[in-house]
Amino acid sequence: MIRHAVFAVALLTAAATCAAQTSAPAGDPARGQDKTRLCEGCHGLDGYRTAYPVVYSVPRIGGQHPEYLAKALHEYRDGERSHPSMRAIAASLSDQDIADLAAYYGESPKATASK
Ligand code: HEC
Repeated sequence: MIRHAVFAVALLTAAATCAAQTSAPAGDPARGQDKTRLCEGCHGLDGYRTAYPVVYSVPRIGGQHPEYLAKALHEYRDGERSHPSMRAIAASLSDQDIADLAAYYGESPKATASK
């Protein structure tokens, strides 16, 4: 009996380790939508422009490939892309947040449309 219990615990531990090692978490668009409050101020603007600190264009992210969006967010977070506002935003996102947001924007072509 005791031996079986020990074996079961070992199996569970191994399973948990495997789960932790799978690289990118699966994105959930519904959870992603909850997190867009952080993004809408810029990516939801008419004409995709923001006026602070200078007028610059904000790229449309709705409808782009989720893989591309996730990669871009990781690059801002890791410092491989240098835009200061996006780096600050991405720094607050977990891998799961990034996957969820990419899933949501990836399947919502109108998410940042002007009307
Ligand atoms: C302060 C305004 C602002 C906010 C808030 C903001 N962004 Fe951005 N975002 C920008 C700007 C400006 C760029 C273009 C930066 C550049 O040229 O690298 C950008 C670029 C991006 C890109 C790359 C797009 C491309 O075509 O390469 C992604 C993806 C992105 N943002 C996602 C998000 C997500 C997701 C959020 C919310 C968690 C968010 N952004 C919040 C202003 C913002």
